[in-house]
Amino acid sequence: MCGIVGYIGNRECQEILLDGLRRLEYRGYDSAGIAVMQGERVQVRKCAGRIAQLEGLARRNPLSGKMGIGHTRWATHGEPTDLNAHPHQDVKGNIALVHNGIIENHGMLRNYLEKQGCRFVSQTDTEVIAHLIHSLYKGDMLQAIREAMGFLEGSYALAVICESEPDSLYCVRLGSPLVVGMGAGEMFLASDIPAILPHTRDMLFLEDKEIAVLRRDGVRVYDAVGAIRHPSPYHISWDAAAAEKGGYAHFMLKEMMEQPQAVQGTLSAYTGKEGLREMLPGKVERLDFIACGTAYHAGRVGAYYLRQLAGIESAAHIASEYRYCRLFPQTDAGVLAISQSGETADTLAALQKARAMGMQTAALTNTVGSTLDRSVKTTLLTYAGPEIAVASTKAYITQVETLLLLAMDQGRKNGALSGERLGDILNQLGRLPEKMEEVLKKQTPIQHYCDGHMNEKLMFFIGRGVDYALAMEAALKLKEVSYLPCEAYAAGELKHGAIALIEQGTPVFAICTQEELLEKTLSNLRETKARGAETVCICPETMEKRARQEADLVWTVPDSDPLLLPLLIMLPMQLLAYHMAVAKGRDVDKPRNLAKSVTVE
Ligand code: M6R
Repeated sequence: MCGIVGYIGNRECQEILLDGLRRLEYRGYDSAGIAVMQGERVQVRKCAGRIAQLEGLARRNPLSGKMGIGHTRWATHGEPTDLNAHPHQDVKGNIALVHNGIIENHGMLRNYLEKQGCRFVSQTDTEVIAHLIHSLYKGDMLQAIREAMGFLEGSYALAVICESEPDSLYCVRLGSPLVVGMGAGEMFLASDIPAILPHTRDMLFLEDKEIAVLRRDGVRVYDAVGAIRHPSPYHISWDAAAAEKGGYAHFMLKEMMEQPQAVQGTLSAYTGKEGLREMLPGKVERLDFIACGTAYHAGRVGAYYLRQLAGIESAAHIASEYRYCRLFPQTDAGVLAISQSGETADTLAALQKARAMGMQTAALTNTVGSTLDRSVKTTLLTYAGPEIAVASTKAYITQVETLLLLAMDQGRKNGALSGERLGDILNQLGRLPEKMEEVLKKQTPIQHYCDGHMNEKLMFFIGRGVDYALAMEAALKLKEVSYLPCEAYAAGELKHGAIALIEQGTPVFAICTQEELLEKTLSNLRETKARGAETVCICPETMEKRARQEADLVWTVPDSDPLLLPLLIMLPMQLLAYHMAVAKGRDVDKPRNLAKSVTVE
């Protein structure tokens, strides 16, 4: 998705903007640009392609100035071309702006503005905003932006500079994140923290419809009717190095290798001398999860934990479905929104819907200060550190871990879980990072497997119960980074249709963490083998002997409490996705068509 960066201060800003944009590359983009207040004029450099091309352009024809904005664009309206790249300008070129989000009524506004004589040069929805603000500008940019907001439908994070106000950088948001970084004698702006983290760790997060005016010496924040607001700054605990590759070939690899520490950090945050801390206030009769993608898969594991450990009803819902489905008010039910970024548009909208239906809401996120974090009273944080690769790995693992702790807390409160069993799980969780290290060290057989199977047409991942949830995540990981088509199936469901896809040599992976379901899943694996599949079983060591009698290949993880096996079993699955992507020469950290944080519906 698109990224925004901005600067106002006493330093030349071209390099600051380009560096910020480089730090946003992980979000995925197909064009980039910057605008700088150079003397009395706003000057723009922009082009389709990578930041390196923009750098080349800016080096050949540099911009000099101490206030500017930059953007990486992920095309929605119009192809990724030079003209469609941001910043966009009004007819006279007085104003330059960058935009994240989508303007839904851009067609109607465009017709109106064209009739007023505006000549459009791009196909984007964003250019409409530049002309609109220009047409409303009567010497007061704050007022013009406020009036423009009245016309715009959709979502936006905007950064605007204007020749007539050379000492102010304006920004506003609705449904798309913006953060203001506060330095000494200089101010920064970004859609994501890592873009400006090398400069400051003190950040202000804008709320919807707030307009911020950045000057060298400070920031003023106004609400939609012009009243001054005084938001409290957040101090970001992680530093810029945490958001860098640190010698690894890819962020995804680095982030997978960081998982033992992430699990340890998250465990320490929720436990103390007294054992497990309270996770959510009180107890609920039912707890549902809403989330997208990998976070949804974590929610499915969480629902399993709640049923197992707290004996309460729980289900995970895809947020984009939940927001439009008919709900029935349940005042004794809780809804927990799960999101690594805390900015996923569908998850935020689903949360609002649950709240409107009278349900108690809370959040689970990796991003302190995110929109999700700020929109609930109770947030459970995961302590995974910044996750840069588009493919979520350490955030998923810590989400699952936190949901396990949450289920244990609920079980303790409603009497479904004994103190002894709780202590036992906590002890085993304490030993988990060491076992995770052990699994992460065994990459060579997985690498060899990928080298030998990189040309497969299709793969299957099957499992029952919680293992089906793990199979879904394994398949998503593999397809998003390697583009290898794959299906996740409930093992028993395969023979109701999808088994028709099995051909000679089709790889089928069976995930087995539950002793009581082992025979059932192995029998489903046998069915695929009988139709020519090449079968792999992923299981703990105790099941290895039995698995070897059925599967062509067995990958094991160390034995552990069955409740913790999901956290171990997912590691070889992540490694499989990673090494397959490397073998196939994919852009591992920035897979095609994907964005790290999906801030549009
Ligand atoms: O930031 P979120 O956790 O809300 O993101 C949700 C999904 O977009 C995300 O998990 C996506 O599926 C990842 N690319 C998966 O690796």
